[in-house]
Amino acid sequence: MFQPDDLAPDRLVAEPIQRQLYQRVRDAIASGRLRPGERLPSARGLASQLGVARGTVDAALARLAGEGYVETRGPAGSFISPHLAAATLPPAARPIREAPPAPGAPSRSLPFQPGLPALDAFPRKLWSRVVAQSVRALAPPVLAYPDPAGWPPLRAAIAAYLGVSRGIACAPEQVFVTPGYQGALALIARARLAPGERVWVEDPGYALARQALRGSGAVLVPVPVDAEGLAVAEGVARAADARFALVTPTHQSPLGMALSLRRRLALLAWAAAAGAWIVEDDYDSEFRYAGPPLPALKSLDRGHRVLYAGSFSKVLFPALRLGYLVVPEPDIADFARAARSLQQGCPVLEQAAVARFMADGHFARHLRRMRGLYAARRAALAAAIAAEFGGAARIDPQEGGMHLLVRLPGTDDMGLAAHAAAAGLAPQPLSPLASLPGGEGGLTLGFANVDPRDALALAARLRDAVRDLLA
Ligand SMILES: Cc1ncc(COP(=O)(O)O)c(C=O)c1O
Repeated sequence: MFQPDDLAPDRLVAEPIQRQLYQRVRDAIASGRLRPGERLPSARGLASQLGVARGTVDAALARLAGEGYVETRGPAGSFISPHLAAATLPPAARPIREAPPAPGAPSRSLPFQPGLPALDAFPRKLWSRVVAQSVRALAPPVLAYPDPAGWPPLRAAIAAYLGVSRGIACAPEQVFVTPGYQGALALIARARLAPGERVWVEDPGYALARQALRGSGAVLVPVPVDAEGLAVAEGVARAADARFALVTPTHQSPLGMALSLRRRLALLAWAAAAGAWIVEDDYDSEFRYAGPPLPALKSLDRGHRVLYAGSFSKVLFPALRLGYLVVPEPDIADFARAARSLQQGCPVLEQAAVARFMADGHFARHLRRMRGLYAARRAALAAAIAAEFGGAARIDPQEGGMHLLVRLPGTDDMGLAAHAAAAGLAPQPLSPLASLPGGEGGLTLGFANVDPRDALALAARLRDAVRDLLA
């Protein structure tokens, strides 16, 4: 069924919004979600729902009308031309992403780029030794195709780690090793999502997850976040029958608040009543600088509704492309089947090395070291931003994570990021991560790779780059 959100433009791509709207309407016709003769929402309604200018919607409709896809009938509204046969329309090509690089997007590592762990502090010598030991230990039978659900010792190491550190009691059989969170989403979509089903996504939220789900045919329902995290009642009002809710309960991406206990219970109650699943993306809970994190939402999951996803991208390094998904016990067989049909498993050598790294205690030591290092880097960058920007900038308080959220009231964050990019810096603007109108803009500044000795100079470089845009 057609939803206006199907037309939501992707603000991370270079393609003009007007052209994206035009193409999305064509796609919806081609896929049969918009049928010949069907009435489109009013231009004013679309503009406000999608958070775009009315003139942009008018221009897209005018082009669609000019090419015969849409008929405008004055006050009666706009209709998909009744003369169209859906099958005659090839779907338009998807627009291509472009700079500035988003967290997780392939790129060089530039100062302030969010989403990256401290690449300079990864213990490469130790890692090389562990990899060499792992290679030597791989007996010939293991060189055949790997288990698509994961290397058993790694599944066991992850289950043990989650029990101790995240309060999650799970058996190794519930753990599926995936190519990162992206791989976990692909597995979830294969096992549990039919095209056209609706999925709540946090707004603002993680762009690559939205993209992956849209690619799997999900219809995204943006749900606002406030000081308590995802506004569950809003989600219920917008799409009570959604199939999934995607959440970052420990540390909302990108705003950083934790999902309150009240909201956690409300979300679990909704999922139980609706027969829906909650995807818990616990991407960076290990990095917290003030007190222990809330236990994972999964630890409250008595009704088997939570699919818990973790990633080694932040705690080790993203090029590993390893993550995991913990599924409820009753779902093991379905996910095992989906994993077999999706992939031939992840590379065994990397899995074996991570399993050994965990089992030998290196992982826990590495995390402890990184927590100390990040606390120092974070404090140094926050002080440097305060010194260089003074009252022009406000840093949102956050208890964890690997980026600072800097608000520069009265500025356009896309413009700030573009000027910063021209100066070789990669802070990311907040506004493209939201599709609902009304949120406050800002910049996310990754601090994990900022050496405290360079913090002042980098903050000054950023200030000089955006000086003309400051209020
Ligand atoms: C919100 C969020 N979830 C998950 C991930 C991890 O993704 P992956 O495991 O695919 O690298 C990231 C990485 O940047 C992220 O920002």
